[in-house]
Parts: sequence; structure tokens; C-alpha cells
Amino acid sequence: MEVLIFDNEADVSSYAARIFSKLMRRKPDAVLGFATGSTPEPMYAEMRRQHTEESLDFGRVTTFNLDEYVGLAADDRNSYHYYMWKVLFDHVNVRSDRINIPDGMSNDVPATCDDYEKRIQAAGGIDLQVLGVGGDGHIGFNEPTSSLASRTRIRTLTQKTREDNARFFGAVSDVPRHCITMGIGTIMDAREIVLLAFGERKANAIRQVVEGPISAMCPATVLQLHAKATVLIDKGAASRLRLKEYYKEVAANKPDWQRV
Ligand code: F6R
Repeated sequence: MEVLIFDNEADVSSYAARIFSKLMRRKPDAVLGFATGSTPEPMYAEMRRQHTEESLDFGRVTTFNLDEYVGLAADDRNSYHYYMWKVLFDHVNVRSDRINIPDGMSNDVPATCDDYEKRIQAAGGIDLQVLGVGGDGHIGFNEPTSSLASRTRIRTLTQKTREDNARFFGAVSDVPRHCITMGIGTIMDAREIVLLAFGERKANAIRQVVEGPISAMCPATVLQLHAKATVLIDKGAASRLRLKEYYKEVAANKPDWQRV
């Protein structure tokens, strides 16, 4: 696992956007895995800028989002469909028939989940997946104790996640209890993964993800088993890492060919 520590959120976000744009220029029909929440928003802003100012082309990419709330329609302001159109899809030339987000209004959730897995496979698998991380170490909506081999399925959100996300809804009671999420096994199948985190409120999770034992109690720790996972964090999120100085030394002395 590579750990890169940046001065601030803006530097993390532009580096993450560069990882995406480098892939998209090398492989214009890349399959991109997207996340929602506050964390990737500045990265999407940077992607919008690169589309407008540097002709970053989304015309042939396919996208898969990690998750969606059960019971929220695509036009609900709190749905992840709505979020993705607002922060990215409305502003770039992505084809709507190549956008995939789990259907939170499905009448047959198991079939929808099964179909999502099949669509990822039919697209050739995800080339690059971006992740945020919950304070409890969740990735997608795979809460603690999720099977590390899980596939796309319905999950029940923890009270903590519902409280964390209440800031978007107004009240905790308005946050749906269920979601459809890619499984941890699904996420781990991505060829490359970048996990972003900002601020001290994520510092405990990041310490576990990078230096803790692998455990379903902190699902993101499974990334230690991924051959190409990069953790991009600001100083706050890095503040509890024991080997912080070592990660900085590694980054400062990277050979040029390894730089993005
Ligand atoms: C969202 C997602 C979640 C978030 C996590 C952190 O698609 O998969 O795992 O990444 O809840 O959320 P923020 O970024 O709002 O702190």
C-alpha cells in the first residue's frame, strides 16, 4: 500500500484527479469507479476543470458508483444519483447509457444487485476505483463486520453512519436505514484503488487502514491485501500514523517514472 501525505485537501484532490486523467488519456474507454460523500467533491471539481480547460474526454468511459440509498429516487436531492449528476455528470461529456449507479427504488433488490455485478463484469471490470472512508472504516456502505468477500447487496446502515450523514438530510430520522452497496470483494476486484481522507476526524480510521491488523471490524483494512492501493491523505488524516516520516521519505525519493 502506498501512502502519500499532502499539505491540504486541494493538493490531495488534484493528485487524485491526475491519477484518473492519466488513466483516461492512456485508456479512453476506461471503467471508472466513483464514490460520493464530501471527500471526493474537490476531486470532481478538478475533473470538471480538466474537462473544460484541458479537454479531458469522458466520451468513451463507463462509470460504476459504489452505492445508493434504498428508497430514494434518482431525482431526490439526497440520492447518490442526484449527487453524481450535480458534481460531475452534468458537466462532462459522459454518455448516460454508460453510467451505472445501483437502483435504490428497485422492486427486486437481490436481482438488481446480481445485475450490477454482471454489468461490472461485462464492462471488463473496474480499472480505477476511488474511495472515501467512514470514521468507522467503512468503504462503500460496507459497515464494520461486513464480509471481506462480499458482493453487491443490501446493507443496513449503522446509527453512526446515519448520524454522520444527517448533515445532508436535516435529521437522523430522515436518513434511510438501508442501502445497496458494492461488496468488499467487488471493490477489491478493481485493478487500482485510491482512497482519500481529510482531517483529524478520519485519523483513527486511517491509522487502522494503513497500520492496523486486517479486520472486518474496520473494512478498509482489507486494502492492505490489494496489489495497487494508494492512500492519499492530508496532514490531519495522517496525524496518527506511526510511520509518517517513513511514508514522507518514500514519497520524496520516488523515482521519476513512478510519479503521476
Ligand atoms: C459514499 C461512500 C462512503 C463514503 C464515506 C465517507 O459513496 O461510499 O463510504 O465515502 O461515508 O463519507 P464522507 O466523504 O462524506 O466523509
